Amino acid sequence: MPDDVLILGIESSCDETAASVVKNGREVLSNIIYSQIDLHTVYGGVVPEIASRKHIEKINPVIEQALSDADVSLKDIDAIAVTYGPGLVGALLVGVAEAKAISFAAGIPLVGVHHIEGHICANYIEHADLKPPFMSLVVSGGHTHLVNVKDYGEYEILGRTRDDAAGEAFDKVARAIGLGYPGGPKIDKLVREEKGDPEAVTFPRAHVGDSEYDFSFSGLKSAVLNYINSEKMQGREIIVKDVAASFQKAVTDVLVEHGMKAVLDRGEKKIALAGGVASNSALRAAYDEACKREGITLYYPSPVYCTDNAAMIAVAGYYEYIKGNLAGYDLNAVPNLKLGER
Ligand code: KG4
Ligand code: ZN
Repeated sequence: MPDDVLILGIESSCDETAASVVKNGREVLSNIIYSQIDLHTVYGGVVPEIASRKHIEKINPVIEQALSDADVSLKDIDAIAVTYGPGLVGALLVGVAEAKAISFAAGIPLVGVHHIEGHICANYIEHADLKPPFMSLVVSGGHTHLVNVKDYGEYEILGRTRDDAAGEAFDKVARAIGLGYPGGPKIDKLVREEKGDPEAVTFPRAHVGDSEYDFSFSGLKSAVLNYINSEKMQGREIIVKDVAASFQKAVTDVLVEHGMKAVLDRGEKKIALAGGVASNSALRAAYDEACKREGITLYYPSPVYCTDNAAMIAVAGYYEYIKGNLAGYDLNAVPNLKLGER
C-alpha cells in the first residue's frame, strides 16, 4: 500500500455528473459536479433518458477537470471508485462503463460503491473525529434509511421508508404548492425567509404500525393535497409559506423522533445526517436541539456534500479499497442494489 492513497470517484446515478479526487479517504483534492437540474426542471422531475445522454456528454470533461484541479494525472491514482447502484440504470451505466474503461486502459484497480454508502461517508470529509460505530439517517430524493454504521463498510438497516422518500415528499409537495423542482431547497428557503408558521396546519405524523423505525410519507403528501383542495373549494386563500412550514415540520418531527429513538435504543453516542434533505435547515435545527438535550454528538456534511457528489463516492471507495474489496470487469449497474450487498 503506498503512503498516500488517491482515489478517483465517479458518480452518475441520477442527474449529477460528478468526479472527484480524494486523498487517504478524508482530504478532498477536487470535487467537480455538473448538475443537470436546469434541464429537468421544465419536466418537474428527472427524465431518465435525458439524464443518460447528458452524462455521456459530460463525463469525460468532468473527470479531466477533477484530475487537473487536484493537480494529478491518472498515473497517480491508486483506484477508481464508481457508483454502481442504486439509481437510474441508464445513468449508472455511463459511470460504470467509463470507470471500467479507464481502469482497463490505465491498469488502475476498480471499486464499486453503493450510493447510500457514499452519502453516509460524506460525513468523514469534514469530521476528522468521526469513526464508526454511529447511527446515520440518510434522507435523499430516492432514499430514507436509518442505518446503524457498525464499522467501515458494515451496515445494519434499522428503518426505511415504506413508500415515498423524504426528498420525494418535499419535491411533490413543492410542486403542488407551485414552487417547482427541486422542491426541498425551495420549501426550506421560503419557510426561512418568509417565516412560515409550522403550527398553522396540523398534518399527520405517520407511524408504521409494525416497525418503530420505518417511515411513510405518502399519507402526508396526500394530506397536504387534500388540504389545498378543500381550502380552494371553500374559497379560502392558501398561505403557501404556512403550508410549506407545516409540511416541513411534519416531515422533520418524524425524522428526528425515529433517529433519536434509534441512537438512544442502541446506546450510541453519535448520529450523522446524510443525503440531500440533510441540508434542510429545519431538520438540522431540530436535530441540534434533540442531540444537545440527550448528550448525543450530531454530524452533518456541508450542503455541497449532502446532495450527490463524487467526493463521497471516493471516500467510500477508499474504505473498500483498503479492505481489498475490488471489482472485476464484470461490474454492472444494479438499479435496486441493497445496502450491504456486493
Ligand atoms: O442526495 P440527493 O442529491 O439525490 C438522491 O440521491 O436522491 O437528494 C436530492 C433531494 C431532492 O429531493 C431535494 O429536494 C432534496 O434532496 N433537498 C432538500 C434540500 N436540499 C435538497 N430537501 C429539503 N431541504 C433542503 N434544503
Ligand atoms: Zn443521492
